[in-house]
Amino acid sequence: MQHATVLSDTLIAWFAENARDLPWRRPGFSAWGTLVSEFMLQQTPVVRVVPRLEEWLDRWPTPAALAAEPAGEAVRAWQSLGYPRRALWLHAAAVAIVERHAGVVPRGVDDLLALPGVGDYTARAVAAFAYGDRHPVVDTNIRRVIARAVEGQGEPGPPSARIDLVAMEALLPHEPVAARAFNGAIMELGAVVCTARAPRCDACPIARACLWRTAGYPPFEGRRKAVQKKYEGSDRQVRGLVLRALRGTSGAVPASDVAALWADDDQRARAVAGLLADGLVVETGAGYALP
Ligand code: ADE
Repeated sequence: MQHATVLSDTLIAWFAENARDLPWRRPGFSAWGTLVSEFMLQQTPVVRVVPRLEEWLDRWPTPAALAAEPAGEAVRAWQSLGYPRRALWLHAAAVAIVERHAGVVPRGVDDLLALPGVGDYTARAVAAFAYGDRHPVVDTNIRRVIARAVEGQGEPGPPSARIDLVAMEALLPHEPVAARAFNGAIMELGAVVCTARAPRCDACPIARACLWRTAGYPPFEGRRKAVQKKYEGSDRQVRGLVLRALRGTSGAVPASDVAALWADDDQRARAVAGLLADGLVVETGAGYALP
């Protein structure tokens, strides 16, 4: 059998037995739910996403329900998921879905890519997982599994939509149901078995077909990803403190209360200016508020 077929057959069978029970995998989960979950999962781990996702969909079960509220309500409900611009984009995407697609999450990758905050990953994840269409889906976990199992490298090279989509396309089964399962299976393997720091090769269903393993785990020699900056003491932390104060009230927070949140004036001013520029915060006569 071809290497690609061994990988896909084996991973699909493994996934059928080992998939975690997650909300977006349950029967009848909506395309809107898939879009919301993929926004949340872009930069936040599954365990932190699940409770926020359930609250979100109870409150806004359709794009129209979210689009009918001010964007600030989306920022409020985002809570501590991090990178809160995603909440603004998701709100803007809901508005666009109502305006351009009569309130129905579009199925075509180009229509999805045209929505605010939707990139190559999210567009194909929605088309594949929500609508069952055959598209290569590529996230960080999938890139790592392909680098190891197929390319014999410990880590993937720098992300490139063009290269990554071609590599995944070459592995993807032709039949749409199998392609959808394979997208989910390889992502799951990267999330729970073929992890970045401590891969569990003893529990890996494709260990025998993995070129990195059969090559004796050669050390990675390519360019490394930049290490994420420390959160503690960062501008991101200050932005988070300001947003948390604003989320806690329905009105405005006086400038003097915002000033009391962080002692370093320059850093606080920079954080507030950034929030204003991003549209996450607005200035009112009474101070600062959510949009
Ligand atoms: N299934 C579909 N998308 C997913 C994701 N981003 N993380 C985990 N499981 C998923």
